[in-house]
Amino acid sequence: MPNETITQTVSERYARAVTTGEEMCCPTGYDHEELQKFIPEAVLKVSYGCGTPVGLTTVQPGETVLDIGSGGGIDCFEASRRVGAEGKVIGIDMTDEMLALAKSQAPIVAKNLGYATSNVDFRKGFADAMPVDDHCVDLIVSNCVINLAPDKVKVFREMYRVLKPGGRFTISDIVADQPIPNYMIQDKEKWGDCLSGALTLGDYWGGLRQAGFGGIHQVGFIPWRVIDGIHFLSLTLTGYKLSSDSIKQTAQFATFTGPFSRITDERGHSFTRGIPQSIDRETEQLLKNSSYRELFVFSDSPTTLTKEHPQWSSVLPEDAPCVWKGQYALLTGPFVEACDDDEHTFICGEAQEICSKTNKVLESEAYRKYFAVINRASETVTSQEPAACGPTDGCC
Ligand SMILES: C[S@@+](CC[C@H](N)C(=O)[O-])C[C@H]1O[C@@H](n2cnc3c(N)ncnc32)[C@H](O)[C@@H]1O
Repeated sequence: MPNETITQTVSERYARAVTTGEEMCCPTGYDHEELQKFIPEAVLKVSYGCGTPVGLTTVQPGETVLDIGSGGGIDCFEASRRVGAEGKVIGIDMTDEMLALAKSQAPIVAKNLGYATSNVDFRKGFADAMPVDDHCVDLIVSNCVINLAPDKVKVFREMYRVLKPGGRFTISDIVADQPIPNYMIQDKEKWGDCLSGALTLGDYWGGLRQAGFGGIHQVGFIPWRVIDGIHFLSLTLTGYKLSSDSIKQTAQFATFTGPFSRITDERGHSFTRGIPQSIDRETEQLLKNSSYRELFVFSDSPTTLTKEHPQWSSVLPEDAPCVWKGQYALLTGPFVEACDDDEHTFICGEAQEICSKTNKVLESEAYRKYFAVINRASETVTSQEPAACGPTDGCC
C-alpha cells in the first residue's frame, strides 16, 4: 500500500473519531480526576493514547516539549502545566479536525492554569517531516502515533534532528512480539486501529538506536491485545540524544553491579558484573548520562566488586522445579544483550521462552524493569510436570 494511502486512511479515521468522540484504542493510565481540573471534557473525550508518557514527570519549568501526533491536545496541555508559563510546548498533528479542536481549547486551558496566554503552539505537520527547527527541543513525547506513520525510520531521524544535544524522549506506542504479516499490513482499517503499522520491539528499539539515540529503555509496559497469535503491547520507552560536547573524561573505569551477570551496551561493549573495565570518553557519556548510570561504579583505578559490596546485585533462582507455562520474555533495553545467573542470554526485542523458575527471577524488583513478559499459550497450561530447561539438558 503506498505511504500516501496509509496517511490518508489514518487521517480520515481520526478526523471521524474527533467528530463522533467514539472510543478508540488502548489503556492509558491517566489520572483523569487530576486532568479534569484544567483540561476540558472535549479534549479528554478524544484521548486516544496508549500509555502515559511519564517523561512529562521529568519536565523542568522553562523547558520546551514537543508532542508528535498531539491529537486533541491532552499531553500538550499536561506539558503546558508542567513547563510553567516560561516554558513552551509544540504539538504536531496532520489531521485538521484534531488541530481545530486542540487550538480551540488552548485559551481555556491557559486561563485554567492562570497563564496570560497559551504556551502551546499547535502546528500542522507530519511526524516524518516536522515543522520544527533543528536542536530546539528538550523533551519529545508522543502517545500512540509513530505506529501510524508509514516511514518510522524517517520519524526517528526527525526526532533526533529537533532535539537539543542532551535532550530526551518518552514515547508510548504499540509494538508487536513478531513481524506483522502482509495480510494485516494491507488491511487499511487495521492501520487506524494501531495494528498494521506496529513494529516488532526489536525493530522499534533498533530504529531509535540507528537514529543515534542511547540509553533506550522501558519505563512502562501494558499487554494490550492478541490477534491471530500476535501479541500487541503498549510500551513506553525513554532514550537520550547524548551530547558530544566538551565534557572531560573523569572516570577511567566502570564496574557493572548487576543484576545481570553480563551485559553488552548499545555501543557493543561487554561488561561482566564485578569486573572493572576501562572506558573511553564516549562510553562514559553513555553510561553516566542515561539509564545505565545507577548500574555502574565509576572510578579512576580498577575497582573490583564482590558479593559483599552494597551495590552488588544478583537474583538467584529458587531451588524449585522448572515448569513450562507458555511464558516468553522480551528484553526491552537498554542492553543489546544480557545474561542472567543461569546463563540464559536475552537479546533486546527477541521473545525467548522461559520456564516458571526464570519467570520468577524476571518478576523480581531488580529485573522487572528490563523485560516485557507475555504468555503465548492459547489455553491454560495444566501440566505441572517439571522438565529440563537448561542449555545443557539440566534444569536452570
Ligand atoms: C491515536 S491518536 C493519539 C492522539 C494523542 N496523542 C492522544 O494521546 O490522544 C493519533 C494522532 O496522531 C495523528 N497522526 C497519525 N499519524 C501521523 C503522522 N504521520 N504525522 C502527524 N500526525 C499523525 C492523528 O491525526 C491523530 O491525531
